[in-house]
Amino acid sequence: MKKIKKIPEHIGIIMDGNGRYALKKKKPRTYGHLLGGRNIFNVIQLAISYGIKNLTLFAFSTENWKRSEEEVDFLMKTPIEYYNKYKDKLKEVDYKVKFIGRKDRISNSLKSTFEEIENLTKDNDKLTVNICFDYGSIDELILNIKSEVKDEKDLLSRLWIKEEVDLIIRTGNEFRLSNFCLIQSRYAEIFFSKKYWPQFGKSEFQKALIFYSKRNRRFGKLS
Ligand code: IPE
Ligand code: IPE
Ligand code: MG
Repeated sequence: MKKIKKIPEHIGIIMDGNGRYALKKKKPRTYGHLLGGRNIFNVIQLAISYGIKNLTLFAFSTENWKRSEEEVDFLMKTPIEYYNKYKDKLKEVDYKVKFIGRKDRISNSLKSTFEEIENLTKDNDKLTVNICFDYGSIDELILNIKSEVKDEKDLLSRLWIKEEVDLIIRTGNEFRLSNFCLIQSRYAEIFFSKKYWPQFGKSEFQKALIFYSKRNRRFGKLS
């Protein structure tokens, strides 16, 4: 493992490129989602090995409902299938999982799967993994801010994700934020990767960390 001087506390990842990866392999888009789902477990282990405190993963956006019914159904049932398959392993992990996003449009069975995973892992403290599902920054603001905001501290305390993001990684060779952590990443460094999400592994993760460690973060001040 490479020694890196400055490690971000909080990494947000826009896990993009599952569909294009599958197409490249002449497989249906859902194949890409299956591999992409598996890759989450690898990246969690990488984050733990580097001592990252918070890892926020964008899994399904508030806009992703606009895809075909077949694809949406697949994305809705995959977490349940993974849970049923890996339930026992999950009892032994040392990270905490939280699901962030709207809870009023997903099925009851998906909702209870999320709750069971949260319950199983709630006492772990190595790393917190936020999985953003039916998440968008705009809904995060609309649903949590029902009255006047007093000040910056008040605004930030009302968000689903309270920790500021230090490093954003977007895979899939796209150069946008797609409604992900807009407020939390206001001063984040942003690493764009050409890799499709299922191909994103240790060496690319390391590249992102090295990129981050070389940045001079000024937060509006002069360095
Ligand atoms: C990201 O991969 C996963 C989700 C948005 C659910 P995509 O499905 O967007 O993959 P591409 O961008 O079409 O390749
Ligand atoms: C962003 O990817 C959402 C997730 C990774 C879950 P999209 O593929 O939905 O983003 P756009 O549509 O290319 O901006
Ligand atoms: Mg995409």
